[in-house]
Amino acid sequence: MNITRHLLRALLPLAALAWQPLALAQTGYTTEGADTCLECHDDESSTYSAKALFKTPHAHAGNKRSPFGAGGLQCEACHGPGAAHAKNKKSASINTFKADSKTSLAERNQVCMSCHEGSTRSAWHAGAHERANLSCTDCHKMHQERDPVLTKASEPQVCMSCHKQQRADFQKSSTHPLRQGKMACSDCHNAHGSSAPAMLVKTTVNQTCTSCHAEKRGPVLWEHAPVAEDCGLCHSPHGSVRAALLTKNPPLLCQECHSSAGHPSVARTADGLPGGSGGGAIYVVGGSCSNCHSQVHGSNHPAGAKLMR
Ligand code: HEC
Ligand code: HEC
Ligand code: HEC
Ligand code: HEC
Ligand code: HEC
Ligand code: HEC
Ligand code: HEC
Ligand code: HEC
Ligand code: HEC
Ligand code: HEC
Repeated sequence: MNITRHLLRALLPLAALAWQPLALAQTGYTTEGADTCLECHDDESSTYSAKALFKTPHAHAGNKRSPFGAGGLQCEACHGPGAAHAKNKKSASINTFKADSKTSLAERNQVCMSCHEGSTRSAWHAGAHERANLSCTDCHKMHQERDPVLTKASEPQVCMSCHKQQRADFQKSSTHPLRQGKMACSDCHNAHGSSAPAMLVKTTVNQTCTSCHAEKRGPVLWEHAPVAEDCGLCHSPHGSVRAALLTKNPPLLCQECHSSAGHPSVARTADGLPGGSGGGAIYVVGGSCSNCHSQVHGSNHPAGAKLMR
């Protein structure tokens, strides 16, 4: 593989100088860049092959912002100066991006930030993942043709490798279609962070939900107060053993807020005591208030005040 290198242009303080291997050696960088690394790290060599990188955007020579663009430091743009390593062949002498690397977490993330500042930085510093000391490379893989976290079908596996509770939730009978590969965690969350609660993609839970379920956004003629307040009062976002992601089954769900005063919502005996099939039983027939109050998200019917049509 013959990779042309314009390293000096990247080292701005030295840019006035002509090509001088000596100056490069002093910075700790190799003079031949990727050509040196690939002497050992290609498919034929016995050590880890790095060739898959050349199928990724990071090796696009035509993109001047990429490590392999004109003037780029190539492999060493990410792994740092590698001249010593190319001599001693020890992992300890190079930034491996692993937790036990000689390079600190902040320094490792700064490598990525130095090029990706614009798109990620402000969010990253508002997010739980930075606070929890995650590194960019806990989610991103650089040496794979397609970084799994960037594909809808494989992203959730990356997230669920840490988020066990969500892994369990998405196995339940009612969930969003993640297992089918039609949605991903990032449809609702910004993994880099956001100023919204739980790093949601929109400012509130409801704005996040109604960005897809627009018909639930309203305004409606007859609003049902909790719907406008927080979908999460009745639905769990990740998974439920009940239909429609409900947190509880009606009538219990409804009775969390609606007492059985008003019209009876608990079956009574003839004496008016709870239980039996006397007065009021009709209100819980079939186990659901929504048999009659079917417009639980609000109604646009002129006579829909009681959410029945
Ligand atoms: C002369 C052969 C040789 C050259 C040249 C070389 N390496 Fe290595 N490199 C190795 C060997 C051998 C290992 C494995 C060391 C070990 O297992 O402790 C290694 C390990 C690594 C690792 C760490 C792998 C890990 O996860 O432990 C990285 C990253 C790396 N090299 C990057 C580079 C880069 C970037 C260059 C060019 C600047 C380069 N290497 C040049 C031989 C070489
Ligand atoms: C965009 C940043 C970036 C560039 C450019 C880059 N690497 Fe890496 N490299 C990484 C990261 C991050 C890891 C840790 C494992 C991973 O994320 O895939 C890594 C891992 C490695 C490893 C260990 C392999 C393993 O399977 O753990 C070697 C060897 C390596 N890189 C060599 C190279 C060589 C040689 C080049 C140039 C041809 C290169 N890298 C270019 C970021 C980069
Ligand atoms: C020298 C600059 C540079 C460095 C260092 C760098 N990147 Fe990139 N990265 C780019 C460019 C350029 C692209 C292509 C997209 C673009 O033009 O913005 C890119 C693309 C990406 C993509 C999208 C890949 C895709 O398939 O669409 C991810 C994810 C990414 N980088 C993560 C990282 C991570 C993580 C690190 C640190 C290990 C890193 N980058 C280091 C310049 C860089
Ligand atoms: C918790 C997992 C996670 C961490 C940690 C993470 N990312 Fe990402 N990143 C993602 C996901 C998921 C996507 C794709 C969806 C999206 O853009 O929100 C992505 C997309 C990207 C992209 C491509 C954006 C585009 O529009 O193509 C870049 C570049 C990137 N991340 C850089 C970084 C950098 C730099 C860091 C470290 C500061 C980082 N990421 C940390 C999960 C993560
Ligand atoms: C390496 C482990 C790891 C990976 C991978 C990971 N996370 Fe996290 N995540 C954490 C930790 C640690 C926290 C902070 C403690 C907690 O809330 O559990 C966190 C917190 C969160 C939070 C809560 C934020 C808050 O403000 O309460 C969300 C949402 C989240 N992660 C989503 C994701 C998504 C989406 C992905 C995949 C794109 C992902 N995580 C990948 C470790 C991880
Ligand atoms: C349909 C949208 C949606 C999807 C898809 C989604 N989440 Fe969430 N997630 C939410 C909402 C909404 C909350 C916040 C609940 C609240 O704070 O009221 C949340 C909260 C969280 C939290 C904080 C802890 C908690 O349970 O409150 C974590 C961690 C999390 N999600 C991880 C994930 C992971 C990992 C995935 C993918 C496997 C994922 N989420 C998919 C909407 C979603
Ligand atoms: C990215 C788009 C998207 C977002 C955001 C979203 N949903 Fe969904 N939702 C879907 C899709 C797609 C389905 C599956 C529809 C189908 O299977 O016909 C669905 C199904 C549902 C169902 C029915 C589940 C069942 O088992 O029948 C409920 C309830 C629901 N979503 C509530 C919510 C709530 C609450 C939020 C916010 C936390 C939300 N959705 C955010 C796309 C989304
Ligand atoms: C007061 C409780 C409650 C609140 C609050 C609520 N829902 Fe529902 N939702 C239900 C019930 C009950 C069902 C099941 C309806 C049925 O059995 O037909 C349901 C069903 C759904 C369904 C699947 C069936 C359909 O109508 O498409 C979606 C999607 C949905 N809700 C989205 C939302 C969104 C988005 C919000 C917030 C804007 C929200 N819900 C707020 C009680 C509620
Ligand atoms: C989180 C609390 C909460 C839950 C759960 C809830 N509601 Fe409500 N509901 C309210 C509030 C608050 C109002 C408005 C009361 C008012 O305006 O006096 C209301 C109003 C109503 C009304 C109209 C009452 C009127 O006088 O106009 C009906 C009917 C109703 N709810 C049925 C249901 C049903 C059926 C369920 C279960 C699927 C349910 N509610 C679940 C809080 C809740
Ligand atoms: C058989 C049909 C039916 C069932 C089942 C039913 N309701 Fe009603 N509900 C009504 C009717 C009819 C009204 C209107 C009464 C009026 O206008 O005075 C009403 C009114 C209400 C009101 C408005 C306040 C009031 O007392 O007038 C609430 C709240 C309510 N129902 C909640 C519930 C809950 C919670 C359940 C489930 C435990 C339920 N309903 C089951 C028919 C039903």
